[in-house]
Amino acid sequence: MTLRKDAFFEKMDALGKAVSFDHVRLKTGYSEVMPDDVSLHTRLSRNIPLRSPIVSAAMDTVTEYRLAIEIAKWGGIGFIHRNLPPEEQAFQVAQVKLHLNGRIDRPRTVKTTDTIERVLAYIREKKFAFDTFPVLDGDEKLAGMLTKTDFEFCTDPSLVVSEVMSRELVTARCETTIDEAYNLMRRSKKKVLPLIDDNGRLCGMYVWQDVLRIKTGSGLPHNVDKNGNLRVGAAIGVGDKALERVELLARKKIDAVCIDTAHGDSRSVHETLREIKRHYPDLDVVVGNVSEGASARRLVDAGADAIKIGQGPGSICTTRVIAGIGCPQVTAIYQCEKAIRGSGVPLIADGGIRHSGDIPIAIGAGADSVMLGNLLAGTKEAPGEITTYRGMRYKSYRGMGSIGALQSNLSNDRYGQKEPQPKDRIVPEGVEGMVPYKDEIREVLIQLLGGLRKGMGYVGAATIKELKEKADFCSPVDMQESHPHDVIITKEPPNYRITPKEEN
Ligand code: XMP
Repeated sequence: MTLRKDAFFEKMDALGKAVSFDHVRLKTGYSEVMPDDVSLHTRLSRNIPLRSPIVSAAMDTVTEYRLAIEIAKWGGIGFIHRNLPPEEQAFQVAQVKLHLNGRIDRPRTVKTTDTIERVLAYIREKKFAFDTFPVLDGDEKLAGMLTKTDFEFCTDPSLVVSEVMSRELVTARCETTIDEAYNLMRRSKKKVLPLIDDNGRLCGMYVWQDVLRIKTGSGLPHNVDKNGNLRVGAAIGVGDKALERVELLARKKIDAVCIDTAHGDSRSVHETLREIKRHYPDLDVVVGNVSEGASARRLVDAGADAIKIGQGPGSICTTRVIAGIGCPQVTAIYQCEKAIRGSGVPLIADGGIRHSGDIPIAIGAGADSVMLGNLLAGTKEAPGEITTYRGMRYKSYRGMGSIGALQSNLSNDRYGQKEPQPKDRIVPEGVEGMVPYKDEIREVLIQLLGGLRKGMGYVGAATIKELKEKADFCSPVDMQESHPHDVIITKEPPNYRITPKEEN
């Protein structure tokens, strides 16, 4: 398939030029698309949908569970970094998965023979904030439900549960999705939906309040899995250690893992990818990073479910100057997209995004989503403390290839080092620094997604897919003309900042 942008990039190629975000702009076109009406639905990977194309970077100053929860609530997905022990990373994943209480996999249960007195003591002792329990008989089969109403109408706490519980149940099979649960509970007007297997044994439960909140709740485009739990990813390295991590992460129902390296087109990455796909064929594996079309093609052939593009565009990266490699990011995205066009494998544009307008450019060039580090670092939800410097508030932001991050000895293989190195032997590929404190991430996301919507309106693209297909570029732009000029900015808008201010 030939796209409009092909001619532009072919011309650039003929001139021996590669371009990045500052060199290009999208051409506007006839539009019937209002920014508020566009759909931001896209895909992270072959099987993982997104409701907005924002992915947070697997960096120890960006993505831990608090930030991953917020990103998923806004339709994107966060990748928990790997600069922490595997058990701790799996714990972080579980925090995201359990946050919304979609499907409850292991509900607390009571027995038919327990007395109500005993159940009440159990609730007090465990400080449960709920009072609905599936009731199991001597064979561990579901016999009934003990609900708030049953407690209210029970005047004699010495009665046993089987005398008080509700027996008229609506149940569903173990595989019931949140959508099916929503429809069934609405139809049957039941506030709890126990799930049972063919032998009548309990295998999960939905609670109406949770289901309703997830389906219609806050007005945010929650990115949830089929059980109604927020989606989350996690970074892993290569080799046996990576497989150990995957095992722990899979137990927590991780949605996707990312083989997170500075050179995705290398033997150890290909081998790790094949091993994971062999053991976990249903788990989506994102692989990165690459910046050449031929590399992207090889990863598709090796079984990648998504490919991450970007070698050196990141705000904290020094890879390009230290190692002398890398291709300007917009050309890299385009070349990779062209090389794998029609394969069905989505691309993630990773690094170098400074303004909301860079997002439609990245997608226009061929990405399906963007991975952000700098723009999300410094938010309230990002890890780390706020520091004050010359009267301004900051949070730290550092490269995963910086000395500080590499000293943790958990992600040295990201930068091709077989073994952890003593400090004086580390050759870093990133810097350590700080970014202005940005308050709540929702304020950042409102501006980023708003800018993307506007870009789509100007291009006349109603969907992310259309933006990829319709985009055409012009270049090189006069940067001075693109930015505010010949004016002293007296009131900085929430979505425009050229460089972090150093002082008041
Ligand atoms: P931004 O521009 O959003 O980029 O801050 C985030 C991305 O940068 C990558 N990354 C690094 N690249 N050295 C590098 O060359 C590093 O130390 C480093 N740390 C992170 C990573 O892909 C991230 O998503």
